[in-house]
Amino acid sequence: MEDKKRLEEFEARIQRGEKIEPKDWMPERYRKQLIRMISQHAHSEVVGMLPEGNWITRAPSLRRKLVLLAKVQDEAGHGLYLYSAAETLGVDRQELIEQLLEGKAKYSNIFNYPTLTWADIGVIGWLVDGAAIVNQTMLAKSSYGPYSRAMIRICKEENFHKRQGYEIVATMAKGTPEQKKMVQDAVNRWWWPSLMMFGPHDTDSPNSGELLRWKVKTKTNDELRQRFVNLTVPQAHAVGLTIPDPDLKYNPETGNWEFGEIDWDEFWRVIKGDGPCNRERMRARRKAHEEGAWVREAAAAYAAKHGMKSRVA
Ligand code: 3HC
Repeated sequence: MEDKKRLEEFEARIQRGEKIEPKDWMPERYRKQLIRMISQHAHSEVVGMLPEGNWITRAPSLRRKLVLLAKVQDEAGHGLYLYSAAETLGVDRQELIEQLLEGKAKYSNIFNYPTLTWADIGVIGWLVDGAAIVNQTMLAKSSYGPYSRAMIRICKEENFHKRQGYEIVATMAKGTPEQKKMVQDAVNRWWWPSLMMFGPHDTDSPNSGELLRWKVKTKTNDELRQRFVNLTVPQAHAVGLTIPDPDLKYNPETGNWEFGEIDWDEFWRVIKGDGPCNRERMRARRKAHEEGAWVREAAAAYAAKHGMKSRVA
């Protein structure tokens, strides 16, 4: 009876648009959903550093190198920020990271694709961070206080990420024929995996019901995907690039760019571990974790000596 009354009060708070804070009563399912979502988001940010980090030593100019370094460092910060947000729900980041390293936790499958040329770095900033902005702008209104506040901070940096990517894309699209061919090839490889970032169709999304009811998400996967397509297609056309979708067509009545069907077999195959770079990414992530052990030990020793709690990832 007690919990029934508390659940009713919780649901009323959600409907009033109130923020739920760490010390507030919340249903166990709400807490578990948030841990699932925020930890995967944090894992995605850190694993997402790998494809781009691959090009830091090969950037075509000092300026491009500086900008890419700044972006990759931002992603590390986003990951640490989100692990801290997850810890407000009573989990320990070590436990979350161990789940990732043991292959028991998901991260966004977009990062299991290879970065074959410099143009990929521009297209990732433009499409992948662009998709992230659409999603994270919505999550900034999430009912869970620490997550929504983390999103507000992260979105500011994502905008820089997208703009630097689009600058690379526009520069190459207007460059030599080889550069234009290189950037169109990158768009052809990254377009459909970027659409997959928003998750399965609403009808195939087992988590969306609860997440929408409790306003963790306030838009569905398909609504966000459509918004991303509507924003991005004109940007491609503005620099003379084509979208690799023969079914793409503008509907003047709805204002939507209607698009073809996503290859959901590929989506689930990559999630299950059979993408182009899944093994390489996890090998690199485990190696980085092992090589960083001395930093964690030093931080823990310092914290113990000074009576502090050490939070090292
Ligand atoms: N990659 C990997 N797994 C995915 C996925 C994707 N693109 N899309 C969905 N899934 C998984 C879900 O995790 C879920 O599995 P689980 O129940 O075992 O966790 C299953 O597929 C079914 O999907 P649902 O739609 O039911 O799951 P959600 O409602 O959680 O929607 C989501 C998936 C859209 C990724 C949502 O979790 C979300 O918005 N997460 C927060 C944002 C985020 O994680 N973004 C990842 C990119 S990070 C990034 O963009 C960094 C930037 O700097 C580039």
